[in-house]
Amino acid sequence: MSESTTSEQFWESRYAGASPLSSGKPGTVLVRFAEHLKPGRALELGCARGDDAVWLATRGWNVVAVDVSHQVLGYAADNARRHAVAEKITFEQHDLSQTFPDGEYNLVTASFLESPVEFGRSSVLKTAAGRVKSGGLLLITSHGSAASWSDHRPSPFPTPDEACADLRLNADAWQPLFVGNIERLARGPNGETGNILDTVIALHRL
Ligand SMILES: C[S@@+](CC[C@H](N)C(=O)[O-])C[C@H]1O[C@@H](n2cnc3c(N)ncnc32)[C@H](O)[C@@H]1O
Repeated sequence: MSESTTSEQFWESRYAGASPLSSGKPGTVLVRFAEHLKPGRALELGCARGDDAVWLATRGWNVVAVDVSHQVLGYAADNARRHAVAEKITFEQHDLSQTFPDGEYNLVTASFLESPVEFGRSSVLKTAAGRVKSGGLLLITSHGSAASWSDHRPSPFPTPDEACADLRLNADAWQPLFVGNIERLARGPNGETGNILDTVIALHRL
């Protein structure tokens, strides 16, 4: 990857040779923190093939789902049609370092919004926090450890408290529901399995 590669170029080429089909399963962290919420408006950042957006929509949420890749947004839209929830999800293409969707939301979720191309992730997530309505939930999940088969190895991984502090939020306006690591069994591309950590920040906006 050259230094001038944009997020869009990187992810379009990553998805160009990839299967359009997804696991069909929402993220375990999203399910854990959102399954008891009353449906409203949700914003998902880095939606990829749309399994989280589809899950939210089937539970009654109106979702704006964002990705930088046109190709994967096409896969996600097909996924939504297969599940008969296309009318509940608006897919938008943004390089979040440049543009951001409009509106305010009861739930803003970003799962593994991580990239080899620098895109100002901290600033994007701070903007995302600003779009959470009073009473809403900000849910950010990132890798807290590396699977043995993964080449994603920041050294060291930020602790949950460091990741939360990086958002530079006004502590008076947020109530932490959970800031920590959650272990899960992950499966690699060749069927390998191993326990990894997800770093989860779940904050309730007061
Ligand atoms: C590692 S994948 C995670 C996908 C999914 N949320 C999940 O939990 O598996 C990161 C996603 O973020 C998207 N992405 C990366 N950089 C982006 C950017 N600057 N703006 C918008 N989306 C971006 C990628 O296209 C990719 O689909």
